[in-house]
Amino acid sequence: GLARKALTLGSASLASGCGGIQSALQPTGREAADVELLFMVVTWLSVAITLLVLAAIAVALWGSDGWRSRLGREWPIIGGGIVLPVLVLSGLLAYGLIIMNIGASRASRAEGPGITVIGKQWWWKVVYTTEDGQRVVSANELRIPIDRPVALRLETEDVIHSFWVPQLAGKLDMIPGRTNTLTIEADEPGISRGQCAEYCGGAHALMSFYVVAMPPDAYEDWLAAEAAPAQEPGGAEAREGKTLFMENGCGGCHAIRGTQAKGTIGPDLTHVGGRHSLGAATLANDAEAFANWIRNNQRIKPDNLMPGYRNLERDELSAIAIYLEGLD
Ligand code: CUA
Repeated sequence: GLARKALTLGSASLASGCGGIQSALQPTGREAADVELLFMVVTWLSVAITLLVLAAIAVALWGSDGWRSRLGREWPIIGGGIVLPVLVLSGLLAYGLIIMNIGASRASRAEGPGITVIGKQWWWKVVYTTEDGQRVVSANELRIPIDRPVALRLETEDVIHSFWVPQLAGKLDMIPGRTNTLTIEADEPGISRGQCAEYCGGAHALMSFYVVAMPPDAYEDWLAAEAAPAQEPGGAEAREGKTLFMENGCGGCHAIRGTQAKGTIGPDLTHVGGRHSLGAATLANDAEAFANWIRNNQRIKPDNLMPGYRNLERDELSAIAIYLEGLD
């Protein structure tokens, strides 16, 4: 009856709590698989040792006199108190060093498709370098080719952030004035979710992003399309939206390559319609979400640098939204 239902529900939510696209326990990349195995080894070893200690306590409390006197001799103290901990801890240290070495040799094989991820309060600037040296600026979504180690350069333009995609690798800080390198390798095409893992101010919890792992050919095609300037809007409403976007000064903060919008303070919007989210993975990506963000962004992500454009009429908002959604 009810108890059974509650139990099913409980275990379902427990399972889903540990699963999904932002779970270190469901790795889709090499680094993360090493981390998960290490986690499992340490966890189950700890469980075994805890059970051993509990058993010794049970014997001490309720055991027969023979067992209790055996437990009080020298060898359980030396064996359990010194030899076993030394063996277990040395073993784990060796295992950890081996894993670090494997990771380091993978990193040494990585040749970047030249991707730099830059932390900002509270979003991610992503800069790709194409084979012919063109710099392609994007935001809040990272695309990588699968089956090859990719060296990401991690930087920040304000405070300390931490780049973490649990399904792909461990986290690494982004430190002002430094470039850190994180090597990731995805095994299969798919989408993972990343999250800033270092408190960086008010909207830290809303600083997320998606990683799209793609077959190498599809990645190359995507990068070529991403490098191209934005297409001119098709319909009358979208054209009206473009005019409104420029008139309201949006181009002072946002860039749309191929137009007069050349701002660098906010995310580059050249192909914003092709991304999986808005506002650094806080909203879906559709016309309604664009309008919602433009008007209510200070409620959605308090203290972000963009003002809420509450002066715009409904139809003006929707025209701008349709223009931006069309930029894919
Ligand atoms: Cu960026 Cu927390």
